[in-house]
Amino acid sequence: MTLYTKSGNLWLRIMLENRGFLSRSSEFSIGPNLLIKIKMTQLTELAEWQALKKHHQIINSQNMQTWFANDCLRFKHFSLQAGDLLLDYSKNRITQETIQLLCNLAKATHLSEKIANLFSGHYLNSTELRPALHTALRDRSQQSIYLNNKNIMPQIHAEQVKMRKFSDQVRQSQWLGATGKPITDIVNIGIGGSHLGPLMATHALQDFALDRLQCHFISTIDDAHVNEILKKINPETTLFIVSSKSFSTLETILNAKTIRAWLQDIVGSDRLFQHFVAVTSEPNKALEFGIPHEQIFLLWDWVGGRYSVWSAIGLPLAIMIGMDQFVNFLAGAFEMDKHFQQADFSTNMPVILALIGIWYNNFFDAKSHAIVPYTHQLNHFRAHLQQLDMESNGKRTTHFGQIIDYATGPIIWGEHGCNGQHAFHQLLHQGQHFVPVDFLIAVESNNELNDHHDLLIASCLSQAKALLQGKSYESALSELCEEGYSDEEAKTLASHKSIPGNRPSNILFLNKITPHSLGSLLALYEHKIFVQGAIWNINSFDQWGVELGKKLLPRILSDLKNTKKSSLSSYDSSTQGLIEHYQQIKSI
Ligand code: F6P
Repeated sequence: MTLYTKSGNLWLRIMLENRGFLSRSSEFSIGPNLLIKIKMTQLTELAEWQALKKHHQIINSQNMQTWFANDCLRFKHFSLQAGDLLLDYSKNRITQETIQLLCNLAKATHLSEKIANLFSGHYLNSTELRPALHTALRDRSQQSIYLNNKNIMPQIHAEQVKMRKFSDQVRQSQWLGATGKPITDIVNIGIGGSHLGPLMATHALQDFALDRLQCHFISTIDDAHVNEILKKINPETTLFIVSSKSFSTLETILNAKTIRAWLQDIVGSDRLFQHFVAVTSEPNKALEFGIPHEQIFLLWDWVGGRYSVWSAIGLPLAIMIGMDQFVNFLAGAFEMDKHFQQADFSTNMPVILALIGIWYNNFFDAKSHAIVPYTHQLNHFRAHLQQLDMESNGKRTTHFGQIIDYATGPIIWGEHGCNGQHAFHQLLHQGQHFVPVDFLIAVESNNELNDHHDLLIASCLSQAKALLQGKSYESALSELCEEGYSDEEAKTLASHKSIPGNRPSNILFLNKITPHSLGSLLALYEHKIFVQGAIWNINSFDQWGVELGKKLLPRILSDLKNTKKSSLSSYDSSTQGLIEHYQQIKSI
């Protein structure tokens, strides 16, 4: 149930779907005359949470290897298939009882209702008063989805038709630059969600891309980055996609203006905008920039930036792989959406991944989560997940504005597993931090090079097994003795060589990296993050934390060139010292 109250200009949406938390009394003043009193229970006070806490004390002292030894069907019991994906979650510190208790927590926090609310356009983004309807962008059901009594599907389809027409024109060499030459290079100018999703997906699906097209990405305002790309391209045959939901992000707009001026010097102003299209929810700002109406692709405020690759923000991908394959990408996500909506919690892949994450995050005190793909195509997946997870769930306030006392989203990090093995895997195996790992691999490669792919898969499975199994002190000792070390030497070295094991990992096995399987994989993680945010009772769809730095920037920018020492005295001594150092080196 949802209650809306209005006080002056302030609308406050109180989501009583959080009623699983009701019990301790809280007060919310939402205007001069209006005070709402409700009873709240902290998540950690729920009986289901307490039961997990008790259960953790038992599980913490147990070893997964014993469970494998006692249950030859453990893989069968703890693996799931959904579409193109197999999830093996058997190498986790869980028993059937753990899963049951975690599912109880999900039920106590009204997860089913919250999932239904996500898909039906409830205003889950409670601080910005919007729904998060990215799932509508990939809905293939032909059903209407209503927002404020308006079916939003026709506008989504219209934009997809426009994307198809334009991407076909570019791919078929019909879209010509200012000097009449067909496009050979696409440069996406965007940052955050207007960069990471398209970058991740175009890289992952490069085997499906048209050979004669190259796609580049400019995100930062670092002039080294901008110049590096501009040196690689032929201006006469390059299309720039200015991709910004707000069309006001400092980095994107500065880069777009710099490139517009650079290009104007080369091709003149008459047909300059043959080289620009925009993707935005602020078409007037794109028009002001000079981009013609027909070359502006729309998204809407109910699509979060980090969830926008399914919209026209995915245009670079649609151009590179063609609209039919882009539709397959959407279809893969839609398949995962249906699974997420329909499967019981205990067989629901996103729910299981999320619950296991909560188990480690909140009960084992894991601070981070490693994403380790053994797939070159997924090299940018971790970076995209960093925004998706950390911008969504890096929060400290409940929907009701209370500061919370439990851990929320973990630090997401990682790298291709082959590189990781020769770098950070040492810490995974023997370090003092508890780091759950997701390994991502594909059964089939798109480029069969002799034994490379089998070796890759074997490497991944060996790492997961080593994390599970470890190496006892005794076995290290006996190996060293066999190698001829003296007793004394062997004893010392054995402690260095022993590996604790019992460290958890998931393996996500994709059949092959295709537009369809990539769509499913990405939707899987989006939903995992949603479930965690729903259980933690936080708003996974806003990002207020990024605002302060943006606000401080203009004054610092102007003070870098300001010679009046007195104006710097209001800064902290660190900022002041650094500005002065900059001015001294630059002789300002
Ligand atoms: O500053 C953070 C952020 O708002 C992200 O959430 C977003 O993806 C990114 O900036 C880019 O925003 P835009 O697409 O409006 O340029």
